[in-house]
Amino acid sequence: MKYVIGVDLGTSAVKILLVNQNGEVAQEVSKSYPLIIEKSGYSEQNPEEWVAKTTEGLAELVQAFEGDVKDIEGISFSGQMHGLVLLDEANQVLRNAILWNDTRTTKQCQEIYEVVGQEKLLEITKNPALEGFTLPKILWVKENEPETFKSASVFMLPKDYLRYRITGNIHMEYSDAAGTLMLNVSKREWSPEILHLFGIAPELCPPLVESHACVGTVTVEFAQATGLSEATQVFAGGADNACGAIGSGILSEGKTLCSIGTSGVVLSYEERNDLDFEGKVHYFNHGEENTYYTMGVTLAAGYSLSWFKDTFAKEEAFDQFLEGVDGVPAGSDGLLFTPYIVGERTPHADSTIRGSFIGMDAGHERKHFARAVLEGITFSLNESIEIFRNSGKTIDSIISIGGGAKNETWLQMQADIFNAKIEKLTSEQGPGMGAAMLAAYGCGWFTSLKECAQSFIQTSKTYHPIKENVEAYQKLFSIYQEVYTQTKVLNDQLKEFRR
Ligand code: XUL
Repeated sequence: MKYVIGVDLGTSAVKILLVNQNGEVAQEVSKSYPLIIEKSGYSEQNPEEWVAKTTEGLAELVQAFEGDVKDIEGISFSGQMHGLVLLDEANQVLRNAILWNDTRTTKQCQEIYEVVGQEKLLEITKNPALEGFTLPKILWVKENEPETFKSASVFMLPKDYLRYRITGNIHMEYSDAAGTLMLNVSKREWSPEILHLFGIAPELCPPLVESHACVGTVTVEFAQATGLSEATQVFAGGADNACGAIGSGILSEGKTLCSIGTSGVVLSYEERNDLDFEGKVHYFNHGEENTYYTMGVTLAAGYSLSWFKDTFAKEEAFDQFLEGVDGVPAGSDGLLFTPYIVGERTPHADSTIRGSFIGMDAGHERKHFARAVLEGITFSLNESIEIFRNSGKTIDSIISIGGGAKNETWLQMQADIFNAKIEKLTSEQGPGMGAAMLAAYGCGWFTSLKECAQSFIQTSKTYHPIKENVEAYQKLFSIYQEVYTQTKVLNDQLKEFRR
């Protein structure tokens, strides 16, 4: 039996999967690392942690592997998107990585609009200037840490840096490059115009490859540190959302994914590169050659739930914490939550907005709050679905993965709020499986990713919308949408009191 490895370099942990030729997960290891939050709005990580934890995890996995290590033919990656890693001439990391959920760059986003113009930016990059994207982070460093910027010889994204440390070779692939705001998404090249306008040397941008491209083998040192064979082929990999889509079989027109991790996304496959969503949703290159996906993002999806649990019931496990929510009626007896605890992305690109509980009543118990949090996260994701539907897309069936697929009540809630059939997969591994599939395809086990998906992915259960819940949620969704408008000014005023 042959194997591949999928490494999912996430925001809170690296998850490593060993997958066999039947698409079965033979082994699984996870290692967590911290976020460095110096002040409100900042979010950084030390790239060395990614390398150390991945090395440790792989070494554990190889040690427990009972077969011949040479049968592990390939390895590939899924990565948290947008994070800025800057290297000097000697390829040493210059500062901590500034992550996708860091929102310090509002000023730089305004500058981007002023210099490029909103229309031109959309034409080239297909996306708006958002705090989380990479170009604003580069401009922030240029403005605030000019010495660091001067010493930078190349920029990388998180999983590309990790892969560089494994192979010694520097590359980037299209699906992650799409989130930098420097890629011409439809032409699939670094945009000379954008680079020129911001005084960014083209050499700062790594060479671009396909997600399934073989970019080398593991170095002697890395083979020694992990026990992997030096012959293990290394494939470029993809952005976590692209890999989540691949790992869920979102590989043909009409397929939609709801993935709830730290952030939550609703994502839809696109064959075309010339549609216009006016920047309301992200439009990125897929990890499959020459295809695309559109996506709306809720910044704090799973994070809203873990924040709530950790703040009020740190010692409890999630299952225990969510006990009783299924008995609370749709709408949590009039309690409404907005998940803007770190600002929001879709449909309100707003780093100042913060969350609310509206409608607290003396009769509410903790389970009402827990249900309201689940509903608020799901309402936020429904805003993205509404944008897709308003643009003419039919969304009647959605594959749900991540935290949202781990709880029956939440799955049914998605069916009721999205008013669509929700499918759960048999073995749901998310982005790590997408990464493993890129390696499997790269190794030549399959002639396409679609063929790989047909063999690796099956649906296990379907949840259908319940009419009376759909009706209740439709009314509540309109109220939910109002909360943003009604609390915006209040949150602007509260900003000065934040740490
Ligand atoms: C997407 C985004 C997040 C990160 C999470 O634009 O910022 O989904 O990819 O890792």
